[in-house]
Amino acid sequence: MTDSYDLYELEINGRTVNTPIALASMAGVTDAGYVLARKDNCGIAFIGGYSIDAPAMDASREMAKGGRAEFLFDDPIAAIKDEVSELKDCGIITGLNLRGCEPASFVAVFNAAGSDVIYEIDAHCRQEPMVKAGAGEYLLKDTDKLSEIIRALKGAGATVSVKIRAGVSADDAALAAIIEDAGADIIHVDLMDFGTAKLKEIRNNCNILIIANNSINDFDAAREMFSHGADIVSLARRADKATLSGIRAGIEVQAKESGWYNSPKQLCRGGDIRSLAFCCMPVKRCPLIPFLDKIGISPKEYHDFKVESVKGTKLESGESTCFGSLAWCCKSSTPCMFRDLSLKRVQLPQREYMRLKRRLSENVLKRIFETKKGIPAVSEDGED
Ligand SMILES: Cc1cc2nc3c(=O)[nH]c(=O)nc-3n(C[C@H](O)[C@H](O)[C@H](O)COP(=O)(O)O)c2cc1C
Ligand code: SF4
Ligand code: SF4
Repeated sequence: MTDSYDLYELEINGRTVNTPIALASMAGVTDAGYVLARKDNCGIAFIGGYSIDAPAMDASREMAKGGRAEFLFDDPIAAIKDEVSELKDCGIITGLNLRGCEPASFVAVFNAAGSDVIYEIDAHCRQEPMVKAGAGEYLLKDTDKLSEIIRALKGAGATVSVKIRAGVSADDAALAAIIEDAGADIIHVDLMDFGTAKLKEIRNNCNILIIANNSINDFDAAREMFSHGADIVSLARRADKATLSGIRAGIEVQAKESGWYNSPKQLCRGGDIRSLAFCCMPVKRCPLIPFLDKIGISPKEYHDFKVESVKGTKLESGESTCFGSLAWCCKSSTPCMFRDLSLKRVQLPQREYMRLKRRLSENVLKRIFETKKGIPAVSEDGED
C-alpha cells in the first residue's frame, strides 16, 4: 500500500491525513456513529454542529422546535468528550464544528476535549435564532468577535478551522486575510453557487489550508476544486459510501500519476496564485505581469523569489529550456520536448519534477505573503 503522506503530504496535529476528503458537519446527523460508517473513505470528519453556550443552546432548542434536526444536550461538553473518545482510534482526524458566542465557551471545549482534534468555529449557520444569539453567520458580520475567538483558541493551543459561507461577507478576500491574520489554520468554505472563482479569490488572499465545500459529488468536481486552490474537499449531503470511495480512488490515481494531487492550472488558463511555480520569466505580454501587479509583487521580486527557491535543487538546471532553468517551465501535463530533455539530463522523473514544483510554489507563496503583509486583499474578476 502506498503511504498517504507520500501521496498527499498533508499533516494536521502531527498526524497524516489519509486522503484529502473531509466529512462536513450536519447538525443532528454527523456524530461518531455516522463517521465510523464512512471512515475508510475520508481523512477528516467534522462532527456536530454542537451548540456550546447558553445563547447558542437556546437557539438550537428553538430551531429544533421549528423542525430542524439538532444535537440537544444538557451538558454539551460531556457529550462532545464521549463522541471524541469514540473516534479516538479510528484512524481519521476528528474536527468539532462548534456554535458559540464567546471565546471562553470555545476554550472550555478545548480544555475538555484536548489538542488532538480540530476546533471548527461555525460561522456558517444562517438560521435566524442562531444569528440572533450572536453565533453562526453572525460572526462573519462581527469579524472582531470572530478574530477574538480564533485568538483565544490558538492561545490555548488548538488547531483552528473557520467554516464560512461564501457571499455572506461583503468581501470574502478580505475575510480570508482577517481569518489568517487572527491565526486560524484552516478555512472551510461552503462555496454555494460561486464555484471556483470564489475559491481562487480566497486562495489568492491567504496562505493557510483550504477545504472547499458544496456539491462536490464526484471526482471531476473535486478535481476542479483542487486545481483552483483547494487542499481538501468536503461533503455533507452526498457523503455516501459510493460517492466517497469514487472520489477517493480518483484522487489517489491523480496523485500517483502526477506527483502533485492538487496542482493548479497554468496562470493563463485560470490558475490561482500557486501557478506562479509554472510561470515564465516576466518578460512578455501575458497575464503574468498584470497578475503580479494585482497582488502587489514586482516582477523583480517574483524573479528573485523563484531563483532563490530553486538554488541547489534539480530545478536550477535546464540549459535546453526557454529560460535556461526548469524554474520557469510549464506543468508536466503540457507537452514539451525541451523540458523533457532537461529532465532526462538530470534524471528527474516527471512525478518528482511536479513534487519539486510544489516545493517551489510553497516557497514562493511564503515569500509573497511575507512581503505583502498589510497590502489590501485583491478580488477576482471571476474569469477562467
Ligand atoms: C441538514 C444539514 C445540517 C447542517 N448543519 C451544519 C452545521 O451544523 N454546521 C455547519 O458548519 N454546516 C452545516 N451544514 C452545511 C454542510 O456542512 C455543507 O456546508 C453544505 O451542506 C454544503 O455541502 P454539500 O453540498 O456537500 O452538502 C448542514 C447541512 C445540512 C444539509
Ligand atoms: S508567464 Fe507563461 S505560464 Fe505564466 S501566464 Fe504568461 S504565458 Fe502563461
Ligand atoms: S522549455 Fe517548454 S516547458 Fe519550459 S518554458 Fe519553454 S515551453 Fe515551457
